[in-house]
Amino acid sequence: MSGTETRSDAGLPQKQTVEGVKNVIAVASAKGGVGKSTLAVNLAFALKQLGHKVGLLDADLFGPSIPTMLGVKQEPKPDVMGRIRAVMAHNMPLMSIGFMVNPEQALAWRGPLLFQVIQQFFHEVKWVPYGEYLDYLVIDLPPGTGDVQLSMVQQIEVAGAVIVTTPQDVALSDVRRGITLFNLAQVPILGIVENMSYFVCPHCHERTDVFANGGGRREADLKGVPFLGDIPLAPVIREQCDSGVPLVLADPTSEYALRYLAIAEKVSQAVPPLALTRRGRGRG
Ligand SMILES: Nc1ncnc2c1ncn2[C@@H]1O[C@H](COP(=O)(O)OP(=O)(O)OP(=O)(O)O)[C@@H](O)[C@H]1O
Ligand SMILES: [Mg+2]
Repeated sequence: MSGTETRSDAGLPQKQTVEGVKNVIAVASAKGGVGKSTLAVNLAFALKQLGHKVGLLDADLFGPSIPTMLGVKQEPKPDVMGRIRAVMAHNMPLMSIGFMVNPEQALAWRGPLLFQVIQQFFHEVKWVPYGEYLDYLVIDLPPGTGDVQLSMVQQIEVAGAVIVTTPQDVALSDVRRGITLFNLAQVPILGIVENMSYFVCPHCHERTDVFANGGGRREADLKGVPFLGDIPLAPVIREQCDSGVPLVLADPTSEYALRYLAIAEKVSQAVPPLALTRRGRGRG
């Protein structure tokens, strides 16, 4: 992270830009297991497919999963300045907090210590191995709206947040908490994605709304934020992540990959890479 600091009008804690990064996009949900990491990886590759320079950060202290979803086995190495170089995964810079901390140890961290660890992590990572700015750094946040999430969104300048939910009511009440978290940190909500929206039987092609349907769109309307799209519950989406090659990369013209691309288009329209020259001024 650069030393570039800003202070909001409301006098909230100072935020820092991430060195070499124009726009940080946070992918979040207040509830676990709704498909945040799956969306984060596919969104990152979809943005890349649209021609942007993109990096991916797994910020899930307690259960990092993105290195597995991208088939990454090697640990990152320090550069001559002692900073950690992001590893390249399918030609995209990737960093996981799990490379640097032990999840069991992280469970014991609270308040100021947590804040310090997160800050150090952002300072030590070098995102621009080839001296190029990233248009977008997609951050997969851990589930929930606790200390970790608040620490992260208060410390770094986040251009916008994508909230992931499943369609049923219990998940939607969590969406409201997620939106509150970002409102508190003055981070714009780019919109809501409804994941596991429905299931199409591969045999009879009948559609089943496993977790009900349409709640994400209704919630978006209610909150006055954009609805970015829905993604069905599809075995191929899980299988591709398990194999280390996300669907958008493995089969970019498939029906479901095109859904991720449509979401990425909306994200890049909401946060154009060139418009925000104030961000990402630092260069490492
Ligand atoms: N649209 C989908 N269709 C099928 N499987 C999916 C879909 N989205 C996610 N999954 C699967 O559901 C499981 C949970 O997804 P994922 O790990 O992305 O959720 P998460 O919200 O990041 O979870 P956590 O809160 O634990 O970080 C994974 O096995 C993933 O492959
Ligand atoms: Mg996850």
